[in-house]
Parts: sequence; structure tokens; C-alpha cells
Amino acid sequence: MDKQLLHTIKEHFVDAYKKEPVLIASPGRINLIGEHTDYNNGFVLPAAIDKITVVAGQKNGTTVCNCIAIDLNEKVTFEINQDKELIQGHWSNYIIGVLGELQKIDCKIGGIDIAFGGNIPLGAGLSSSAALENGIVALCNELFELGLSKEEMIQISQKAEHHYVGVQCGIMDQYASMFGKEDTAILLDCKTLEAKIYPIAFKDYELLLINTNVKHSLADSAYNDRRATCEAIANRLGKTSLREVSKKELATLISEITTADYEKAVYVLEENERVLSATQALDNDDMITFGKLMYASHQGLKEQYQVSCPELDTLIDKAKTYPEILGARMMGGGFGGCTINLIHKNHVARIVKEITTAYKMIYGSECEVYRVPIGNGTQQVFL
Ligand code: GLA
Repeated sequence: MDKQLLHTIKEHFVDAYKKEPVLIASPGRINLIGEHTDYNNGFVLPAAIDKITVVAGQKNGTTVCNCIAIDLNEKVTFEINQDKELIQGHWSNYIIGVLGELQKIDCKIGGIDIAFGGNIPLGAGLSSSAALENGIVALCNELFELGLSKEEMIQISQKAEHHYVGVQCGIMDQYASMFGKEDTAILLDCKTLEAKIYPIAFKDYELLLINTNVKHSLADSAYNDRRATCEAIANRLGKTSLREVSKKELATLISEITTADYEKAVYVLEENERVLSATQALDNDDMITFGKLMYASHQGLKEQYQVSCPELDTLIDKAKTYPEILGARMMGGGFGGCTINLIHKNHVARIVKEITTAYKMIYGSECEVYRVPIGNGTQQVFL
């Protein structure tokens, strides 16, 4: 964990509010495989990363919440017991949302002074939003002695996103950020929230993220559309989610729904199977199969689920030309953000240079590359 970052955020807080804060470090996440399966009650294989949002906070004895977004140099103040006007797309919605959801379940909270900042790239599909939500809910849990379990906290974070941000997200991001464990990925069954830990040791290979640095504006509405489509198909078959639907059952709808919708549902069923095959590959130390599953996941996200974009596809097509990259796929909701690549450690520098140069030639803009050690979940830190 970046100690310097923790000190910097703490100093900002002390400067602004003249008192000692409680500090929470809350990580972003990657997802090895299992995309758009979480809200279908399916399987995902995410991990927390060592990039974090640090939330510093302390009670102020009033009913006012003061929030400083250090990296953006912005401050927002609101009265916790009054209805708030939300500004679409603004970071304050995550904080207003978490406090609002806590109040809905009768948690007794008061005014707080908050300052936060971090090193999770924004809009890159690394769940900086879930990290902030989890950081705020963990801060409140600590300051007001709410006694919430981690499971309860992530439900609050998710509801904040649904009701105050307007994205009908699944539980993967909040779960991975809260429960992450160093050097392990989590096989999460999103139906039961049962989790199994997989040690991540790719030997000669490592995971590398390449950020397209684009986020196409239709991302949120397309996300909610996909979720609604999947639920409608499951409901037509008398099921609550696609997790309960077999390929055979789905086939009975083939003439009743559009081909595009049918393909989306097929993708979800197949992606669930891929996640389970991927964990088997991990058990067998079979990186080649794991990589192939990553490429197949991308293919499905592009062709069937239709959530990729030209920038992501370019990076994947380019990755496929290197035998040193065993697999790659877009990661997260789609329409921009990062690809995740399983790449041979000895060839990272050369390949990264070639891929980023080619990307710049085509799009005229830079993509960024991140090495992502796998870190721990949301936690209080003491300096
Ligand atoms: C976003 C959502 C997650 C998940 C992914 C796609 O990150 O927040 O819940 O649905 O997209 O896998």
C-alpha cells in the first residue's frame, strides 16, 4: 500500500479540519474473467488491487457533512437530514448515496468532515466508485459504531450506486474492493455470495492493464439496458435470473425474441461456464487454457453482448499477434476503460512499447499501462 499517499491524505485532512482523522484505505479491482455475469446471479473472478482511495474522516458534532475531493480540488457541503439535489455524474453522489442508504436502514449517523483522494485511475473500469463507496461506509461504521458486517456494508454501497448514481450494477465491484486479499483472486458466486479464494501466481506471466483512456458516453444507459434485457428473458422463462436458465430452455425462446437479445443471453450462460473453466485451469496451472478463455470472453463481449468499442478491440487484436500474450479481454462494464492481458514477464517492456505506439498511430491519443499487484480489501489504517 502506498504509505506516502496515506500520509498526504491525512495531512490534507488535518490542514483543513484541524483534528486527527480516522483513515480508511479502499482498493479498486480487476476482474480476471466473468463480465456482466454478476447481476445475472452468475460467477465472477475479481481481485482487489494495490491502487486505493484513501478516505479520511472525523465526526464534527453537527448534522452537516463537509467533503473535500483532494485530487479535484473541490469541496461539497450538505445537510445530512435534508433531501439533496444530485448533480449527474458528480463524485458527491457516492457520498450522499452511502449516507442516505445508511439513514434508510435507521443507522444513527451525524455530521462528518471528510477528505479523500487516491491513485485509482478514474473512468478506467477499475471501480474507483466502489472503492469510494466502501471507504465511506467503512468510515461511518467506525465513527458511529454501527456494527455493520462487511456483507451489509457492500449492500449499502451497491444501493447507493443504484439509487443515487443511477447504475444498476451487480455486486462484484463492491465485493472485490471490500473482501480482496493479497495475491488472490476471488471466485464469487453472485447468487449466494459464497466465495472461494484462488492464489494468483502466474509464474513467468503477469497481469497487465492497458487503459484506452476513453469512456464512451452511452456506457451507463447501455449497462442498464443489458441488465433489463437479461432479466426480461429470465422472467419470460419463469426464472428470476439467467443463472437458473439452461441453454436448452433458452432455445425455446429463439423465435420469440430478437437474435440480438438471444445472443446476449447465450453470452451470459457461456461466460458463466468460462469462469468455472478458468478456475479449473488455475487449479491445473494451465495458463494456456486460462488465456484462451480470456480471448473467448472478449469475443463474446464484443460480438454477442455488444459492450466493446473499437479502441478496446484494437488492443485485443494487437495482443493476439503476440505469442507472449496468452490471453486478453476488455474488463468491466465496457465501452472504454482497460483491457487485461496475461503477458510473459520478460517481454512486457518491448510489447507495451509496440502496442502503445500502434494505438497512438490509429487514435492519435495515448493509452496507459498499469502493472497491478493484487492487494487487500477495504480496511482501517493506522499511521
Ligand atoms: C461494472 C459493474 C459490475 C459488473 C461489471 C461488468 O463494473 O459495476 O457490477 O457488472 O460492470 O462485469
